[in-house]
Amino acid sequence: MVSLQITPSTSVVLHILLTGVVAQDGWGVKYTPKSICALKGSTVIIGCTYTYPLGFAIKKSFWSIRQVTSTSEPPDLSLDLRYQDRVQYLGDKQQNCTLSLRDVTEEDQCKYYFRFITYKADGKFQDKNGVQLFVTDLQVETPEEVVEGDDVTLTCKTTCNLTGPSYIWYKNGVSLSSNTKALNLKTVSSEHAASYSCAVLGQSHSSSAVILDVR
Ligand SMILES: *[C@@H]1O[C@H](CO)[C@@H](O)[C@H](O)[C@H]1NC(C)=O
Ligand SMILES: *[C@@H]1O[C@H](CO)[C@@H](O)[C@H](O)[C@H]1NC(C)=O
Repeated sequence: MVSLQITPSTSVVLHILLTGVVAQDGWGVKYTPKSICALKGSTVIIGCTYTYPLGFAIKKSFWSIRQVTSTSEPPDLSLDLRYQDRVQYLGDKQQNCTLSLRDVTEEDQCKYYFRFITYKADGKFQDKNGVQLFVTDLQVETPEEVVEGDDVTLTCKTTCNLTGPSYIWYKNGVSLSSNTKALNLKTVSSEHAASYSCAVLGQSHSSSAVILDVR
């Protein structure tokens, strides 16, 4: 008869397989979500929690865009000139490592890693996966050629999937009633020839305006 014994080491392996989180002996960082798509100009909240074994106390915790190496600590994001006015640590020294980053640009698109150091010499941790930030602009996509009578769809294009946004469409600067990513124009006429732009509800950044020509 074969019996399955759950030893401490198999339970660690099971934990990794089931959660994808490497929490060796209680050391771990969990980001929610694991990747983020943000609109240029918006504020991003990176949800984060961390764990460590009992008996340790946190001396220092910070975020970085670099991984720790065998010889050096990664640079602290809050001391980086490109970030220092825009990052805010919303976490604590117990288990919350949530970070806020405002006014994001495409240059911020990279991986972010949380690092924490305890008072004990070997009590340090940084996970290897990090959290991926994608930053998108908005771009109005139109068909190359539009002829009177066509049904036309304009799309508010993004380079990553924003979660649950409501879109706003503008025709010559005036908002339209459509709130979806695609703007459908039925049987177009010269009245539809105009300048179109799109935005996301609650965000100030909008796309460039695109002229729709109707032949
Ligand atoms: C962590 O802190 C943030 C900001 O204060 C809060 O919104 C979030 O709910 C906290 N997360 C947990 C798991 O406590
Ligand atoms: C974005 O969403 C679309 C439609 O739901 C899906 O087909 C596509 O794979 C998603 N792209 C990414 C990068 O998740």
